[in-house]
Amino acid sequence: MKPSPALQAALAETARAIDARFDALLAIPDDPRADLYRAMRHAAIGGGKRLRPLLVLATAQIFGCDHDSVTRVGTAIEAIHVYSLIHDDLPAMDDDDMRRGKPTVHKAFDEATAILAGDSLQTLAFEILSDPATHPDPFVRAELVLEVARASGPAGMAGGQAMDLEAERAQFDLATVSRLQALKTGALIAVAVEAGAILGRVQPEGRTGLRGYARDIGLAFQIVDDLIDVEGDEAAAGKKLRKDAEAGKETFVSLLGVEQARERCRLLVDQSIAHLRHYGREADLLRDIAHYVLERDR
Ligand code: IPE
Ligand code: IPE
Ligand code: MG
Ligand code: MG
Ligand code: MG
Repeated sequence: MKPSPALQAALAETARAIDARFDALLAIPDDPRADLYRAMRHAAIGGGKRLRPLLVLATAQIFGCDHDSVTRVGTAIEAIHVYSLIHDDLPAMDDDDMRRGKPTVHKAFDEATAILAGDSLQTLAFEILSDPATHPDPFVRAELVLEVARASGPAGMAGGQAMDLEAERAQFDLATVSRLQALKTGALIAVAVEAGAILGRVQPEGRTGLRGYARDIGLAFQIVDDLIDVEGDEAAAGKKLRKDAEAGKETFVSLLGVEQARERCRLLVDQSIAHLRHYGREADLLRDIAHYVLERDR
């Protein structure tokens, strides 16, 4: 199934907007930091589905938020994601040569530059979020910073990455793999939706449906990543595949098998859409994204 025309347009527009933001933020200085900026640009510009910024947009548009705020917050969360990819590909982690159809940063530059490019993208994210240009209300900015920090650190993405390294050595059961995935991938996807709700001034008690949606598509998203690793096409994915089994990593696919893993994704996508029942047509982009998560090949 192809993405709906509305989703195709939103994906293309988000990709364009995020590229333009990184281009403006990462002008290459005429001094010895030039390679650091080049490495950040190499990783951040031109490629990727831009799913997380799209989730910020699709959530925020339910509440009619300011477009510039939405793009800035999407850029910040994408900066964290790109940092996580640069570090994920390092020899000390997955040791990968290809990302988004290009050489990984440590291949195109060197390991030290890749580490610093990741570090710098991470701090860039918090610089963007805390900048008054992102939102006039300091309480909104502080909540964005807090939630993105939580989702990125040991209780979120970084913690999930640590568990993922353990998964090569330990025998994890389904509950532990679920927790691993919820942290490694789910947390950043969830905070993209949460950030849309924060920008929309939705109080925490009003976010239950959106949080349920985000939790379910986050898990489905990582299961599909694991399915792509097993049965996907490297040219379409833009990265090396068949890595998880090679590394002896427990994933949903290794534990459930391809068919059951795919079935679980279908259930999660249906469930994610059910969480949006209190919203009307204004949440259709979120519904389209849920279908896309399942159907994607990259
Ligand atoms: C890849 O993320 C790593 C995971 C968290 C599964 P994406 O599949 O969103 O990668 P890009 O941004 O499209 O390259
Ligand atoms: C990476 O997961 C998740 C993060 C970067 C947080 P994977 O290692 O499965 O992602 P790919 O397959 O390299 O994109
Ligand atoms: Mg990894
Ligand atoms: Mg990897
Ligand atoms: Mg993977």
